[in-house]
Amino acid sequence: MKITSFDHYKEVYKHSVDQPEDFWAGIADSFLWKKKWDKVLEWNFKEPNIKWFQGAKLNITENCLDRHLETLRDKPAIIWEPNDPKEDHRVLTYRQLYKKVCQFANVLKNNGAKKGDRICIYMPMVPELAIALLACARIGAIHSVVFGGFSAQSIADRILDAECNIVITADGGFRGNKETPLKSIIDDALVRCPSVQKVIVLTRTRTPVAMIKGRDVWWEDEIKKVETQGIKDCPAEEMDAEDMLFILYTSGSTGKPKGVVHTCGGYMVYAGYTFDTSFQYQPNEVYFCTADIGWITGHSYIVYGPLSQGATSLMFEGIPTWPDAGRFWDIVDKFKVNIIYTAPTAIRSLMSFGEEPLNGKDLSSLTKLGSVGEPINEEAWHWFDEKIGHGHCPIVDTWWQTENGGHMITPIAGITPLKPGYASLPLPGVQPVLVDEKGTIIEGNEVSGNLCIRFPWPGMLRTTYGDHERCRQTYFATYPDMYFTGDGCSRDADGYYRITGRVDDVLNVSGHRIGTAEVENAINMHSTVVESAVVGYPHDIKGQGVYAFVVSPNMHDDPELTRKDIMMTVARIIGAIAKPDKIQFVSGLPKTRSGKIMRRILRKIAEGDTSNLGDTSTLLDPAVVEEIKAGAL
Ligand code: PRX
Repeated sequence: MKITSFDHYKEVYKHSVDQPEDFWAGIADSFLWKKKWDKVLEWNFKEPNIKWFQGAKLNITENCLDRHLETLRDKPAIIWEPNDPKEDHRVLTYRQLYKKVCQFANVLKNNGAKKGDRICIYMPMVPELAIALLACARIGAIHSVVFGGFSAQSIADRILDAECNIVITADGGFRGNKETPLKSIIDDALVRCPSVQKVIVLTRTRTPVAMIKGRDVWWEDEIKKVETQGIKDCPAEEMDAEDMLFILYTSGSTGKPKGVVHTCGGYMVYAGYTFDTSFQYQPNEVYFCTADIGWITGHSYIVYGPLSQGATSLMFEGIPTWPDAGRFWDIVDKFKVNIIYTAPTAIRSLMSFGEEPLNGKDLSSLTKLGSVGEPINEEAWHWFDEKIGHGHCPIVDTWWQTENGGHMITPIAGITPLKPGYASLPLPGVQPVLVDEKGTIIEGNEVSGNLCIRFPWPGMLRTTYGDHERCRQTYFATYPDMYFTGDGCSRDADGYYRITGRVDDVLNVSGHRIGTAEVENAINMHSTVVESAVVGYPHDIKGQGVYAFVVSPNMHDDPELTRKDIMMTVARIIGAIAKPDKIQFVSGLPKTRSGKIMRRILRKIAEGDTSNLGDTSTLLDPAVVEEIKAGAL
């Protein structure tokens, strides 16, 4: 499977485009199937209808666990570093992880879970979170993980959308010097969610929690029951390749977040293959992905990708800046980490502390570095390269999306010649194209356009949960016969791709995707707000910040207090991660005569570039623009 040189990559790539089915069948052969497929691929991007490895039977957990038991049973599968460096770390070998997953899968069964059920997971970054995902997959239940930073309201929306019948959570979670009362937030969410029959609660912070008779049970008690019952194993449910594996909600330019659906066979092959290929993982390497499992990066590159390849995956509960800005480097030093995979926002934040936090940290174990989530600026790239990689570790700048399941455009570590700021070249099997506004493919190099993918890959989304039409509209209707990414992109003289950012109304704040419409809806919920418009602006650490223009003519209090109230409202409705960085009160928004908000103008003002606002002749009331310009923050 391994690619051995840049020329070899080119050969493999060519084969993957000329004979995609043959290529992917070859890759899929290295995984464990209960039954092989009858047909590698069936597809059209019109409906869309995408089926990989039809007729095949598998269970992803047999690939992540069972198949390693003979050769890797005592190898660490998960190393866990707690939030508080004074607390002991934990190591779970493949054998121990297997046992724990089987135990918890039996807990799920004892609590009524069945194949096809949707189970919501809202947990801190502890090994039990990975165990919960795998246990769901073991019994064929579909997990829907909600990131710990989302509010009760957001959780309820997701539970209702997927009609989950079970929630797995913890009493609370630690992150830095903060404690989040997870169970209490779940209790608030469940007021609106009658479909939920059971809540399984892990002990982490041991903060007092309400435990409702008949509904809420403790994780630890349920494990004891399974032990007393003497059940040790849990047979892996036989899944069709195209059965759903999980749902993960993500923001778009309109409406509420949608549930991106990934299926068992294709996702398994794609997460495993891309992990192995991009990072060129070698046996015994310790691999540390700093993401949270609440996002796709954690799903694919903490849990499924690494474990399917028998890797050692390091999981960290805390944040990069607590107790101090040297925490990542302490972890690298402590566990002799070989590969670190993190986000530009974390790099920029750590850069701002200077070199002091690096003093005395031995980073010599590092051989490969990775970046994900947003474009990496050259300054951050060079700092990562020089200060962390000491100039000898390739940086893989991996471009991909929740909908993609795994890496799409990325250097292959040690193989692809690097250029700072470039995601570089597509992985084998990925066929990117740039298109103009009309959807015409732009050939040649030194061009830019909207990034589309013209051929399916096994890890792509199959639908958006409960609303296939929305999936078609969002990704397949803009340009016929292509998957539209929503990103702008350029291709240089060498054919290297550079992602320039979203071309739709989606913001990327600290690598988190936030829909402007969603934030506007939340702001508009505030009692004195008449309307609002949200745009992004360049932010030194976060990449993009959230700038809100708000019309609130009848404020009762002083603007500062109202500003805070609006922040609280957004935190309640969506979660703290969507809070605006700047709120400017305005008497009106710039609109065209047909009533459409001219975001282009607001974006310019938010960026501090008011010299050339472009054509304003279609504005209903040009005076509004002058007022907004004068009051810009
Ligand atoms: O705009 C791109 C940006 O993040 C978006 C996808 O966000 P999400 O689904 O949350 O997944 C993030 C982690 C995979 C993309 O549309 N993005 C992601 N990686 C990169 C990136 N932009 C530039 N370079 C990257 N390496």
